[in-house]
Formats: sequence, C-alpha cells, structure tokens
Amino acid sequence: MSLLDAIFKRRSIRRYKKQPIPEDVLKNILEAGRLAPSANNLQPWHFIVVTDQKLKEGLIRGTWNRFMKDAPVVIVGCGDERDKWSTVDVAIALENMVIAAAAQGVGSCWIGDFDEEKVKKLLNIPNHLKVIAMITLGYPDEEPEMPSKKKLEEIVHYNGF
Ligand SMILES: Cc1cc2nc3c(=O)[nH]c(=O)nc-3n(C[C@H](O)[C@H](O)[C@H](O)COP(=O)(O)O)c2cc1C
Repeated sequence: MSLLDAIFKRRSIRRYKKQPIPEDVLKNILEAGRLAPSANNLQPWHFIVVTDQKLKEGLIRGTWNRFMKDAPVVIVGCGDERDKWSTVDVAIALENMVIAAAAQGVGSCWIGDFDEEKVKKLLNIPNHLKVIAMITLGYPDEEPEMPSKKKLEEIVHYNGF
C-alpha cells in the first residue's frame, strides 16, 4: 500500500482478529515512532508495548473502550513532563506508528480515555513521565465507513483566515 493510501484509507479499528502481529511488522511500527521528529530532537518519549492480557484489561476505563482487551497489542505513549513539547512529540510519534501500521495492513485506534494514575501504577511508569495516549494494534475484523470529515474549504485558509 502506498503511504498516501495508508493515510487516506486508515480508519479507527475497534474489532480485531485474534491473529498476532508478527515481530518484524511490530518492529517497523515501533521504528516509525522512534524516527519521528521531535522539538530539538530531544525525543522525550517512552513507549510501553503491552501484550499481557491482564495488563491490557487493567488499562481499560469504563465500558466504551472494552475492545482494547481484544487488540493483540496496546502501545502506551509516555512523555517527559519536564519537556514542554513532549505532548506534541509523543503524539507525532504515535501517529507515525498508526500510519506505519496502516501501511502494513494493521488496524489501530487512538485511546485518549484512560485513568492516568491507574495506568502509571499498573505499568510502573516513573513519576517524571506522563501518559499522553495509547494506541491499540491488530489485524482489522471490521471495515468501518469513513466518518463525517470536514471539507477542505471549511478548514483551510490561504494567506489569512
Ligand atoms: C487523541 C485521540 C483520542 C481518542 N480516544 C479514543 C478513545 O478513547 N476511544 C475510542 O474508541 N476512540 C478514540 N479515538 C478515535 C476517534 O474517535 C477517531 O479518530 C474519530 O472518531 C475519527 O475516526 P477515524 O479515526 O476512523 O478517522 C481517539 C482519537 C484521538 C486522535
């Protein structure tokens, strides 16, 4: 799949096949995160790859993210809170991973709804790191429609608003 196809066709996937993600495919996804741009190239990030079933279930808050337990992999993106750009940097790295996943046929979903304190405790994340977001990864078992997206004319402004 071309990179543009991967970006244009990507959808958030919330149903996954049981099929595990091969190591080389996962490695490419992690590499795409590692090589992402960051402010001053500080790379203020750590990524926790969660595959253990109990831990995955422990990451879930409420009911609408229950599907996380069926994703073979969850990646927890952490940023150094002493770095003012870490939220942006980690988000860029996670989105690089999402695109690298899509390019290899792996589905994903961003997870922003979680209990940060609970997640930090569960995964032994040091105090100076904040949990920015998570992504689920796995082979899609659904083909969601494109949700409504704003038109370019609504959001793009040339040479001023
Ligand atoms: C920062 C962020 C947090 C999100 N958190 C969740 C979440 O907790 N649970 C979920 O099911 N989807 C979550 N999503 C996915 C969005 O709902 C989804 O991207 C949006 O509906 C557009 O659909 P699409 O990704 O298929 O284009 C999140 C997306 C982003 C970017």
